[in-house]
Amino acid sequence: MTKKIHFSDLGLVNTKSMFAKAMKEKYAVPAYNFNNLEQLQAIVSGCVKTKSAVILQVSGSARNYIGTSFLPHMAAGARAMADELEATIPIALHLDHGNSLELARECIDSGFSSVMIDASHHSFEENARLSREVVSYAHDHDVTVEAELGVLAGIEDEVVAEKSTYTQPEEVEKFLELTGVDSLAISIGTSHGAYKFKLKPGEEPPPLRFDILEEVEKRVPDLPIVLHGASSVLPEHVEQINRFGGSMDNTAGIPEDQLRRAAASAVCKVNIDSDGRLAMTATIRKVFHENPGEFDPRKYLGPARDELISMIVHKNNEVLGSGGRY
Ligand code: G3H
Ligand code: 13P
Ligand code: ZN
Repeated sequence: MTKKIHFSDLGLVNTKSMFAKAMKEKYAVPAYNFNNLEQLQAIVSGCVKTKSAVILQVSGSARNYIGTSFLPHMAAGARAMADELEATIPIALHLDHGNSLELARECIDSGFSSVMIDASHHSFEENARLSREVVSYAHDHDVTVEAELGVLAGIEDEVVAEKSTYTQPEEVEKFLELTGVDSLAISIGTSHGAYKFKLKPGEEPPPLRFDILEEVEKRVPDLPIVLHGASSVLPEHVEQINRFGGSMDNTAGIPEDQLRRAAASAVCKVNIDSDGRLAMTATIRKVFHENPGEFDPRKYLGPARDELISMIVHKNNEVLGSGGRY
């Protein structure tokens, strides 16, 4: 049996105090997904530069891609990197879209400080039962738990939801009572992936359902709310991908003003994965187009990492409001 690792041994924290501060001061903590070294370095660097708390987020498939025994060392490396830059920013390691108690337990036993159990595609009862089981194990280890009510459209790890089902605010109190989760992801019109909306020329994406968000806030004012599928699909990256040999047609994401409004509410955690992927891909395509002979990974992954840092600085300071708050 592999040795158990508690998150505190890696210099990590759970999300409790991060969310309490975000709730009080009306901003959102960024949760950036990573799969490799350069993404992780960019996230830490961007969050240190902006003096922002950060949630390092890993899906089940990303965890397998990285390697389960390698991952805790990456988290420890992230902590060491921030310390070296003399930044005591709080860092959490979070399982994104966990789909079973077994996976949640494995993560809790290997250094994760926060886990999501996503049973939102099951019935309310099954979602509550599974979430309760995860909470019971997680809280014994001081690990915080996020669950989801309502289903987002798009791709969540290996689960594909064709259409979104908005969260029903009247179910929230009962769910919290049954489960004891620390935060809740809700469905208000965001969706996963880089193809959130197909728009006709001049058309704007439909606004998020702030009425649902407000109703949830009204019913449970202290509940930290999580927004998944919150990439903006930045046009400059999509244009650059298309200019340098890629093909991404008619894509649009969540406008930044909608995210600013959400971040100033009880939304305490905003999940961003696709925008980071697009930033890196746009940069790598440009390098290869301009220098087809290039084959040193540092020459394309380095600039991609720099672009990701700039994007994170922008999001933390200009969209989520987490910059300067730790
Ligand atoms: O919401 C899902 C995340 O974007 C993770 O996706 O399973 O491709 O790592 P992934
Ligand atoms: P995006 O695909 O919008 O980046 O959403 C990521 C996410 O919700 C991860 O859980
Ligand atoms: Zn998600």
